[in-house]
Amino acid sequence: MTDNTAISRETLESMLKAINMGVLLIDREYRVLFSNHFMSLNSGRPADALAGHTLFDAFPELPEIWVRQKINSVFTLKNFAFTSWQQRPHLFNFASTRPISGSVKHMYQNCTFFPVQDAEGECLGVGLAVSDATDTAARQLELTRLNELLEAEKSAQASLIQRLEEAQAQLLQSEKMAAIGQLAAGVAHEINNPIGFVSSNLNSLRSYLKDLFSLIDAYEGVCDGEYLRVNPDIEVLRKKIDYGFLRQDISELLVESADGLDRVNRIVKDLREFSHVDSCEWQLADLHKGLDSTLNVIWNEIKFKAQVIKYYGDIEPIECMGSQINQVFMNLIINASHAVGANGEIIITTGLEGEGVSIDIADNGHGVPLEIQNRIFEPFFTTKPVGMGSGLGLSLSYSIVVKHHGRLTVDSLPGKGTCFRVWLPLRQPPPPPASEGDSS
Ligand SMILES: Nc1ncnc2c1ncn2[C@@H]1O[C@H](COP(=O)(O)OP(=O)(O)OP(=O)(O)O)[C@@H](O)[C@H]1O
Ligand SMILES: [Mg+2]
Repeated sequence: MTDNTAISRETLESMLKAINMGVLLIDREYRVLFSNHFMSLNSGRPADALAGHTLFDAFPELPEIWVRQKINSVFTLKNFAFTSWQQRPHLFNFASTRPISGSVKHMYQNCTFFPVQDAEGECLGVGLAVSDATDTAARQLELTRLNELLEAEKSAQASLIQRLEEAQAQLLQSEKMAAIGQLAAGVAHEINNPIGFVSSNLNSLRSYLKDLFSLIDAYEGVCDGEYLRVNPDIEVLRKKIDYGFLRQDISELLVESADGLDRVNRIVKDLREFSHVDSCEWQLADLHKGLDSTLNVIWNEIKFKAQVIKYYGDIEPIECMGSQINQVFMNLIINASHAVGANGEIIITTGLEGEGVSIDIADNGHGVPLEIQNRIFEPFFTTKPVGMGSGLGLSLSYSIVVKHHGRLTVDSLPGKGTCFRVWLPLRQPPPPPASEGDSS
């Protein structure tokens, strides 16, 4: 064991001077009693120039009130006090000692305030031990920066993945809709031929029957009841087949069949209109026709649930992709029919609004609860039971409307009803000119 008393004051002082950390001794008036090489080297002021000055004259950068409180508390309580680089990064205004990077300009420091006592425990002064924490701080700060970068990248990736998933889902849904459209168009096309010959045959049949009946009438006129004598079986047969009724019913059947054919024709026309087989690109389309054909296509789904009331305004054809806009109408009208209860009403109102047209699809259904109103356009958001809704209808409709430079908004009063408003511009803005980079 070393005997401390054997170490001279000079030895201790020289050790304090040489140690690789700042050491100061301060008296009750905050005057510097002692400072070591570290402090002179970093402050650029020799020990003589520091001694006798108050701490705050020697180091004007110090937060005076805070340092005074620290020193006072050490004098009073004779306890240690600390501050680390995280709390006060640059207590003393020293330049960075870090040789390599220029990124850290100032020295980060940890500082300990400690009581310097005599043998009786009397506090003679307060010592300050200042250590250079630049290395640790620089590494820590770099780690924090990298961590933040990583976090930002991670959240960017997560939102990218989510957008990809949404895009994929919407693609699937639009492919599904396109497939339904194509199927409808194909069926319409296939039905068109048979309708053609059935209706032409029906016309021929009508005229043949007319001829046949006129022939029978002619026979009857010539025979004038004579045939009863010649062959009474004819009268039996006439009664058996109920000739009078048959003759009348045949023409009714023909009228009904022609009616039925007309309806099939209309359905085919609606299917073609709905899927816009003739033109699936930008075109001038009559939205009222689109609404009507959509209503006809989904009539089965809504006819027992709601009464549809139309207030069509005076609107002109707009530039749009007709089949896609019909999909929007279909999604909104089906949603409305799902929302209504007994005495359901779906009111469709159209009109000119600014440089475009607005189409309101309102219902008197259960409404959209406030807390989910800003979520209903999210892909996969649905409140319908599993298997009933995929939650893609509104998100797909939204993206179609946005693609048309329009707006899709909702206004809903829970318990009272909901109104979706589609606004579409009359004409599409011209595509932006290709930038120079694009032409390469
Ligand atoms: N008219 C409406 N009234 C009340 N709630 C509605 C109405 N329209 C949409 N919603 C709410 O918005 C949700 C999302 O609608 P969206 O059309 O996107 O999906 P979905 O109808 O559930 O399923 P699908 O993909 O089959 O259309 C619905 O589940 C419903 O909660
Ligand atoms: Mg829906």
